[in-house]
Amino acid sequence: MDKGAKTLKKLCELDFDAIEAYEEAIKRLDDKSIADKLSQFRGDHLSHTDALNRLLQARSEDKVDGPDAKRVLTEGKVIIADLMGDKAILKAMSANEKLTVKAYEEALEVDSLSVEEKTQVTKHYEDEKRHHNWIKSTHDKM
Ligand SMILES: [Fe+2]
Repeated sequence: MDKGAKTLKKLCELDFDAIEAYEEAIKRLDDKSIADKLSQFRGDHLSHTDALNRLLQARSEDKVDGPDAKRVLTEGKVIIADLMGDKAILKAMSANEKLTVKAYEEALEVDSLSVEEKTQVTKHYEDEKRHHNWIKSTHDKM
């Protein structure tokens, strides 16, 4: 597996990690409008996993079907499950999105990604920045 494939695999595992954190957060949020917004973001992460798996398969690599056992997100589902209150949940999700933005940003520096792969990764990077900005600004207003 070359660096490009490893990068796509890691991003896909990270998106699965994020999906689990989102599911926990959505269940626990009191504010329905915030939960609805997070459901949309969760949907973006799901479409990322589909797109990244298509790219992996085009390279004849195995599909990723869940997060890495080590988990990369510092505020993953286990941490979120213990939090009380919407503000604390958004703070944790904001930290997660910050890491995800960084991971996509770093992936764009990897030379062994094809033009098509970089185009896809750039789209995901834009989604991640949008998620992070929304969650952070919503948290800061609370
Ligand atoms: Fe995100």
